Amino acid sequence: MFQRTVRVLENISLAERTYRVRLACPELAAAIRPGQFVMLRLPRTTDPLLGRPFALYDTVLDNGQPVAIDVVYLVVGKMTAHLADMGPGESLEVWGPLGKPFLDVGHPPRVTLVAGGIGQTPFLAYARELLGTRGYGGDAPRVRTRSVALYYGVRTARFAAGIDDFRAAGVEVHLASDDGSLGSPGYVTQLLESHGKTGPLVGCGPEPMLQALAKLAARWGVPCQVSLETPMACGIGICFSCVTKVRTGEGWDYKRVCVDGPCFDAQEWMFDEPQPAGHV
Ligand SMILES: Cc1cc2nc3c(=O)[nH]c(=O)nc-3n(C[C@H](O)[C@H](O)[C@H](O)COP(=O)(O)OP(=O)(O)OC[C@H]3O[C@@H](n4cnc5c(N)ncnc54)[C@H](O)[C@@H]3O)c2cc1C
Ligand code: FES
Repeated sequence: MFQRTVRVLENISLAERTYRVRLACPELAAAIRPGQFVMLRLPRTTDPLLGRPFALYDTVLDNGQPVAIDVVYLVVGKMTAHLADMGPGESLEVWGPLGKPFLDVGHPPRVTLVAGGIGQTPFLAYARELLGTRGYGGDAPRVRTRSVALYYGVRTARFAAGIDDFRAAGVEVHLASDDGSLGSPGYVTQLLESHGKTGPLVGCGPEPMLQALAKLAARWGVPCQVSLETPMACGIGICFSCVTKVRTGEGWDYKRVCVDGPCFDAQEWMFDEPQPAGHV
């Protein structure tokens, strides 16, 4: 794991309250894999004191070498509001890669990614890895599937971010919005269900969406993993602020999303049980 103070190369608006920040960090960019995340912290301040977790959106190459990482973020509170004000040349503290990469899906003909809210962010690099157009973590590109579909649901069209990036990466994009202003009206899981059984499924987004997805996967009998966005304090397994309930051979156990996840098998994740207090 690397911990560095790094330079912001750019910080651009993608959609309402949604930005992409590019950070110069070649060692981290060379090591990180899709599904993993980084902690970002504002330097020279104690407000907020703690870092915040963000998924890898993608790595940036220069002459084939990884030189930077992109993070796409939605402004929801203190840290992200400060981040949105930062410009090129300013610095941020970053540590990572953290967590585990996406679980192995084997070599299916098609992989279906399901995102809600800001949950599309871990999927761009993952789609490129699955399609074999990019390698990560020092691996050469390797084709794992012929086709990747993204089902992406937003509250309203103004929040949709990165759709062109996914299309440019060769991903088939299906859109839904709560208010009908983009794609199909209604929830993204309803759109997915209306298109018929497919698998394997990989989800990231608000927990109610992930619960609906896990139930659909169970009904269809297809493999499904979910990437959780549980609030975190340390990101490295020390504080236990990020636990979630997961089934084990003996019953169930608390797992730390930061080190045991953030990706879990949907049928092991106990979405239908009350989660620990403070869990969003
Ligand atoms: C593994 C992982 C990857 C993530 N990747 C991304 C990403 O790529 N892009 C992105 O925009 N966000 C991502 N998040 C969520 C991101 O960490 C939070 O939005 C961020 O911590 C908010 O910090 P803040 O200081 O701006 O808000 P705070 O001031 O900490 O919080 C403001 C409000 O948002 C709520 N809140 C904070 N964190 C969350 C959360 N995780 N879920 C729901 N509500 C929350 C708080 O309860 C509060 O009401 C990820 C989270 C995890 C665990
Ligand atoms: S965030 Fe501290 S243990 Fe997971």
